[in-house]
Amino acid sequence: MDIERVLITENEIKSAVERLGRKITEDYSGLNVLIICVLKGAAIFMSDLIRQIKAPLEIDFMSLSSYGAAMESSGEVTVKKDLDKDISGKHVIIVEDIVDTGITLAFLKENLLARGPASLKICALLDKPSRRKTELTPDYLGMTIDDHFVIGYGLDFNERGRELPYIAIVKQ
Ligand code: IMP
Ligand code: MG
Repeated sequence: MDIERVLITENEIKSAVERLGRKITEDYSGLNVLIICVLKGAAIFMSDLIRQIKAPLEIDFMSLSSYGAAMESSGEVTVKKDLDKDISGKHVIIVEDIVDTGITLAFLKENLLARGPASLKICALLDKPSRRKTELTPDYLGMTIDDHFVIGYGLDFNERGRELPYIAIVKQ
């Protein structure tokens, strides 16, 4: 896997995750939170984030697929693995690695809202707003980045690079 350069260091990720955890802790004080991790990219982010949230919480996982070229989602999203439990009446936070076109999260948001949660928010580690094709803004955001394809900290290019402790730009 060829890396052009490191874009976000391990320490910068750590500060962003701590900040998000503090904010979510404040906003959800007194509530039970259900954290939904979007597999596989958000797995590492979610496992660090939940340890920064000082509130009673549960976790669940969902896997979505969008068909198309490796570096771009095609716009057609399907559920590959659904949640284990009903979310009606729950305070749900979707945890995602990156918002690119926004198509994946727009689909997921609509899909989950139809199940009647008490509330639904989106927490994304990264955002590439310049590529957006839908109206979607994360409620909690780690960092905005320019239009680069990145790997590391859970994010992959053809399944490679997820284990890197930092976020790096892939050499094209
Ligand atoms: P969207 O539907 O275009 O917003 O795509 C979001 C999904 O595409 C993310 O959940 C990632 O799996 C993937 N993705 C988008 N940009 C990148 C990137 O720079 N690196 C790795 N995966 C990415
Ligand atoms: Mg993803």
